[in-house]
Amino acid sequence: MKFFVDTAVVDEIRELYDYGLLDGVTTNPSLIAKSGRDFKEVIAEICTLVDGPVSAEVAATDFAGMVAEGEHLAKIAANVVIKLPLTLDGLKACRHFTNKGIKTNVTLCFSANQALLAAKAGASYISPFIGRLDDLNLDGMELIAEIREIYDNYGFETEILAASIRTANHVKDAAMVGADVATIPPAVIKGLARHVLTDKGLEQFTKDWAATGQTIL
Ligand code: E4P
Repeated sequence: MKFFVDTAVVDEIRELYDYGLLDGVTTNPSLIAKSGRDFKEVIAEICTLVDGPVSAEVAATDFAGMVAEGEHLAKIAANVVIKLPLTLDGLKACRHFTNKGIKTNVTLCFSANQALLAAKAGASYISPFIGRLDDLNLDGMELIAEIREIYDNYGFETEILAASIRTANHVKDAAMVGADVATIPPAVIKGLARHVLTDKGLEQFTKDWAATGQTIL
């Protein structure tokens, strides 16, 4: 499973990229607002750090506006992926960009039928939002599993990008049901490495090694 980081904070992206854990980045208007940065400037900076896909979301909600904004964003760097909302206009814009060879990420997906439409529109990625469904006592992971089955039934190449991930268990469960990608907040990615028994074991090994009085170098 590929890991994208869900943030527009460049220092967080740099740190994770340096660990070798990142395959790409996703942003959205809320994350851009939170970063306090200029949108196009921060996308350009992220694209100089990361050579994988970097999702940049349009702000317009009508077809013509999405096309104009998306074409502008696509010029920032070759790895910019145009993020479009899952509306009829967004799907039409998706088809437009796919026909031009520009990658797309169709976002705000909350049902299997929406995901089916995105695949038919030629989306490169579909982003089903797990956490926001779970917030409503619905089952975000069940949606990922349904989309996996539908895409496999018909050989759709659209990649399932599990989004709105809030916990380590979301990451594990998305991997188990076959999501192609997970976009994950930085703190959750770092948390995946932690285990109390790892910490305890390492503390003991360090203590025992010191007692030997030996050095390796
Ligand atoms: C990523 O592409 C999505 O915009 C993001 O994962 C949404 O996460 P949230 O529901 O925690 O805001």
